[in-house]
Amino acid sequence: MVLQRNLGPFDTTAIGLGEMPLTIENNLGTAKGIETIHAALDAGCRQIDTAWAYYCSGGEEQTGEKLVREALKTWNGPRDEVLVATKVGHFRNFTDGQPTWDVDGSPENLIRRAKESAYELGVDTIDLLYFHRPDPKIPYGESIEALRELIDEGVAREGGVSNASIEQMDIAQEILGDRLIAVQNQYSPIYLDTADTLEHAARIGISFVCWSPLGGFRKPYDESKFDPFKVVANRHGVSYQQVVLAWELAKGDHVFVIPGAHRPETILDSLKAGDLALTPEDLAMLP
Ligand SMILES: NC(=O)c1ccc[n+]([C@@H]2O[C@H](COP(=O)([O-])OP(=O)(O)OC[C@H]3O[C@@H](n4cnc5c(N)ncnc54)[C@H](OP(=O)(O)O)[C@@H]3O)[C@@H](O)[C@H]2O)c1
Repeated sequence: MVLQRNLGPFDTTAIGLGEMPLTIENNLGTAKGIETIHAALDAGCRQIDTAWAYYCSGGEEQTGEKLVREALKTWNGPRDEVLVATKVGHFRNFTDGQPTWDVDGSPENLIRRAKESAYELGVDTIDLLYFHRPDPKIPYGESIEALRELIDEGVAREGGVSNASIEQMDIAQEILGDRLIAVQNQYSPIYLDTADTLEHAARIGISFVCWSPLGGFRKPYDESKFDPFKVVANRHGVSYQQVVLAWELAKGDHVFVIPGAHRPETILDSLKAGDLALTPEDLAMLP
């Protein structure tokens, strides 16, 4: 059984599937995407993380949400056990011909996109809706008020923020109260700058969801940051990715990880990280 934790009112798995690689650039196609989601669910994963903006720049929009809907529709397991989280506020664009991510945090846009998300996910109410990324053009509180409206109207059950600072987390909690259940920020051995928000999430009683928990797959980064994780992995006879995820989960009971995958093999390995008991000697070697 995959490690379970409480994310707000949801009793779900501490390790979720990050859907993004299945539908952005360099994905391996719809059939592989559905196979990957089914493999994760069959192995006990009960949390899927997607977003309105998980599609290829210039291509059909919302393909991530459409893939999740199709995978759940064709899965033979208990659909109602699966927490599906999505996000609004980002869209895809091009800069100098390269695919990029742009933001629109205006209340009108967030409300419109959230309704489109619910429609494409095939639900009346989205389980967990994140505000994807602050928009410097819009006061943060105005974007969060839109999230409040969406929750009040029943478009979303619970709210979350993403790429948020401590100050923004506090603004969101002031507006959403106990409907703010999570902050989703980048956190991994190559990106520890958000450690303050991980600690703050525990202080204010919300969950911390690590995005790109394995460092992501798109940008070059300093591989040597993973060296101590590889030493620990050798001791336990597991992949170093499992050690990374177990180390993140050991930061607190309020921590969740959503590793991405292009194929079943990687998510199936990642889901075992909850079974890995790191010793005090292991943890002493890690950041
Ligand atoms: N809120 C935000 O702004 C934001 C931003 C970025 C991402 N996210 C979310 O976070 C999720 C995860 O981030 P990510 O996909 O960028 O990066 P990631 O989870 O750090 O890394 C994914 C890569 O790691 C590989 N991998 C995963 N598990 C592995 C294992 N056990 N052994 C070996 N390799 C493994 C995958 O390999 P294969 O390709 O071979 O399968 C994939 O290439 C996304 O899918 C998305 O849902 C959110």
